[in-house]
Amino acid sequence: MSDFHNEILVNHSKLPWSYQPKCPPVGITSSSPLPPLFQELKIRNLTLKNRIVVSPMCQYSSTDGYLNDWHLVHLGQFAIGGASLVIQEATAVQAHGRISPFDAGLWKDDQMVMMKRIVDFIHSQHAAAGIQLGHAGRKASTKPPFDPTHREKAYFEREEGGWPDEVVAPSSLPWTEGWIIPKELSLDEIEQFKNDFICSTKRAIQCGFDFLEIHAAHGYLLAEFLSQTSNHRQDKYGDSFENRIRLLLELTERVRQVWPEEKPLSVRLSCDEWVGNDGWTIDDTLILTEKLLDLGVDIIDTSSGGNSSKQVIKVGLGYQVPFADAIKKKFGTKILAAPVGMIVDPKQADDIIEKGQGDLIVIAREFLRDSHFPLKAAKQLGVDISWAPQYQRAKQ
Ligand SMILES: Cc1cc2nc3c(=O)[nH]c(=O)nc-3n(C[C@H](O)[C@H](O)[C@H](O)COP(=O)(O)O)c2cc1C
Repeated sequence: MSDFHNEILVNHSKLPWSYQPKCPPVGITSSSPLPPLFQELKIRNLTLKNRIVVSPMCQYSSTDGYLNDWHLVHLGQFAIGGASLVIQEATAVQAHGRISPFDAGLWKDDQMVMMKRIVDFIHSQHAAAGIQLGHAGRKASTKPPFDPTHREKAYFEREEGGWPDEVVAPSSLPWTEGWIIPKELSLDEIEQFKNDFICSTKRAIQCGFDFLEIHAAHGYLLAEFLSQTSNHRQDKYGDSFENRIRLLLELTERVRQVWPEEKPLSVRLSCDEWVGNDGWTIDDTLILTEKLLDLGVDIIDTSSGGNSSKQVIKVGLGYQVPFADAIKKKFGTKILAAPVGMIVDPKQADDIIEKGQGDLIVIAREFLRDSHFPLKAAKQLGVDISWAPQYQRAKQ
């Protein structure tokens, strides 16, 4: 561990005050029946205090994969705001698997220091801490969406801090014209990817994360393997459906072996590629879900799209809820479904749980607009939840 990172730890532990509130933990004090959104959910040994989850959101604010104070404040605010689970942004298991040069990583031990500090803070607010591990595949080395030159050219050259010559994918197919032409992964490199994923999983355990999500959505490496639009391999990882899902299943099996049995495991899928039957569809997702369930996956985080530049997405309020609903209809209580995407209103979120269309509500942008969304939601739904004592005087 570097002196710099040791220093952070030492200074933090010497602080004269504690983050830990000196009064009873966050709890619900209403006597009337609770709206479903505020009912607890036990997944393995983890009890979530409500159903509101912060979706992983890249901040493009890391250096060499290291998180920093931005991430502490960014993620910490959601824990103060009453989310039951805060999932850290897509975190790369290999340096060249970062989406951009500014993404989070967990490919070396030093990177655990700040993560552990953030996990501890989230825990101090009686929330659970999750991490999403992944690899960007052919979408690696790209520019953050807020880079002003992003639309002219999507990726960074090596002299700009990128690694276009190291970008890999199942097949040598760019995401779209003008993007990096990736190198096809060799079988040895696929093994290395799995091994590195397991090393990152072990580090996530050491950081104290309660929840792990495998990122197999949005056209990143694992999603690229799933679809015939991005996977043209002819070996055991390509061609047939069984071959295309092989990598995700092999990886999941190994992750479940090392990720503690008492902790939940989630997989984020792009349930539909939005290109019709030429690509991955919800029917494929349902077949895959059954296999993931058999491997000990507890939750499917139901996202969509991102794998094909030809996608035509029907965006609207709760537009990805039907994917979670399809999973619930087919598997009932055997697996949990976590819809995400334009869920912006407490009543809308509560209705989804009430109707059994999902078990957890995953929210991204609404949390950026209002980091205390759950506190507001509780008020709107007539639930009296405890606030952080430091904020108590603002609670009416
Ligand atoms: C700033 C930002 C960063 C994101 N980064 C990630 C990410 O790291 N991993 C991921 O799976 N999805 C990521 N997403 C997608 C969100 O997690 C979410 O699925 C999507 O925004 C739809 O939910 P929403 O309508 O509540 O924003 C990101 C979205 C935003 C707005």
